Amino acid sequence: MHLNTNPLEFCVSPVPRYHCYPIPSLWTLPPTSSEWFEAVDLSLSDECSSWSLYLHLPFCESLCTYCACNVSITRDHDREEPYRDLLLKEWNLYKRRSPLLLKRPLKSIHIGGGSPTFFSAENLRFLISGILEDVQCSDQFFGSIEVDPRRASQKHLLELHRLGFRQLNLGVQDFDPEVQRLVNRNQPPALVGNLVSQAREIGYPSIHFDLIYGLPKQDVGKILNTIESTLELRPQGVALYGLAKVPWIKPTQRLFRDEDLPSGQVRTLLRNNARHLLVSKGNYFNLGMDCFVLCDDPLFEAFRNKSLHRNFTGYTRTRSDLLLGLGVSSISETPTCFHQNEKVLPIYERKVVKGETPTLRGHLLTEEDQLSRAMMRQVLTQSELIVSREDKTRVESLLRPMIETHLVELEDDHLRIADRGRSYLPEICSLWDRSKYEEPSMARGQPF
Ligand SMILES: C[S@@+](CC[C@H](N)C(=O)[O-])C[C@H]1O[C@@H](n2cnc3c(N)ncnc32)[C@H](O)[C@@H]1O
Ligand code: SF4
Repeated sequence: MHLNTNPLEFCVSPVPRYHCYPIPSLWTLPPTSSEWFEAVDLSLSDECSSWSLYLHLPFCESLCTYCACNVSITRDHDREEPYRDLLLKEWNLYKRRSPLLLKRPLKSIHIGGGSPTFFSAENLRFLISGILEDVQCSDQFFGSIEVDPRRASQKHLLELHRLGFRQLNLGVQDFDPEVQRLVNRNQPPALVGNLVSQAREIGYPSIHFDLIYGLPKQDVGKILNTIESTLELRPQGVALYGLAKVPWIKPTQRLFRDEDLPSGQVRTLLRNNARHLLVSKGNYFNLGMDCFVLCDDPLFEAFRNKSLHRNFTGYTRTRSDLLLGLGVSSISETPTCFHQNEKVLPIYERKVVKGETPTLRGHLLTEEDQLSRAMMRQVLTQSELIVSREDKTRVESLLRPMIETHLVELEDDHLRIADRGRSYLPEICSLWDRSKYEEPSMARGQPF
């Protein structure tokens, strides 16, 4: 089974993944520190409001050469406690400046990295309970965490489960030994299998795998084997990422030999074949973007009952008004503002120690930004949405190829996205990306 349809055939030019809108490279209106805290307070001003938390733990013991995350490579575990305490110090700053955080329910916590389980189970408990003991957790509260299978123990899984963690995102990437060798990530399949068994025994209802297509020496046979091994372990969810190659930001990606990387055409084959096998043989449902879930995963239920939400951490079943990010490089978002912490650890550390907000950059959303972002969020999380009268002609003409091939349906002002059309969500989102449609000379804030 070798599929060769081009998923981008409708696209004139590649579009971003729209993890947020505007995308960070177009953030032009940074908030001052007091504007940022005002945005946090505003997001929690309604009595029914709620929030979610993201913690970034950047350490890894070894470097995977494809990695585009904000990481610090070290084997020195003495760095755990000072970093843990730095995060708690940053949390104290927020507690002091935004006491509403203590009054409004916390719906979820996501821990990413780096490799959060670089930290001992005890240090993770100290950090997480140090925050949770201050706040009110909602009845639906749950935690999710990114787990490197090579660095996670049963003790980690037990402790996290006790703290309310229910979703594990395991970094699998590819099961093939040659691909693993080339990316400096030796991870025998049995190790992943054992961790999955342990997590199931403990009672984790939602185990997700991260897989990547486009890695060195990957071919269709190898990726199909990786998907077959995945289907045997039956995780509730699979994130199938395309390799993001950014060697100007991550020089370690230059360690790949260009000739080992699949060409653009092969990448498309890898993606299409992997997606097809997940859906046809595995019965996974494509929620959109890179995310596939089984119908017993809580995200699928959230999609069906229209409560699915998307923020910087990806798809989530909990809708909240504020995502607060703590830790180096963390991104926070409110309905009116984005905020990112310093990406360089010593600078982040210096600012937090001085009691300053460790702001690197941010963006105060204009009204038009907010409208575009709301439309994109609907595209990413719902299968139907209402298109305004002003937008309809433009949307209809740009989506014509998708309408003609039944990927989407536009009837009156109702835009419905068919299951097959969910592979093209970024392209559909781009219809509301003002930076693509505004004349460069037009000022921000003008109508389409
Ligand atoms: C922080 S890491 C996951 C946790 C843990 N550090 C691990 O690797 O197992 C988050 C995920 O980002 C994805 N990722 C990292 N670099 C990437 C890149 N250059 N392109 C696409 N996905 C990437 C990987 O799938 C990885 O599992
Ligand atoms: S992929 Fe995960 S383990 Fe590998 S360097 Fe990146 S964050 Fe660390």
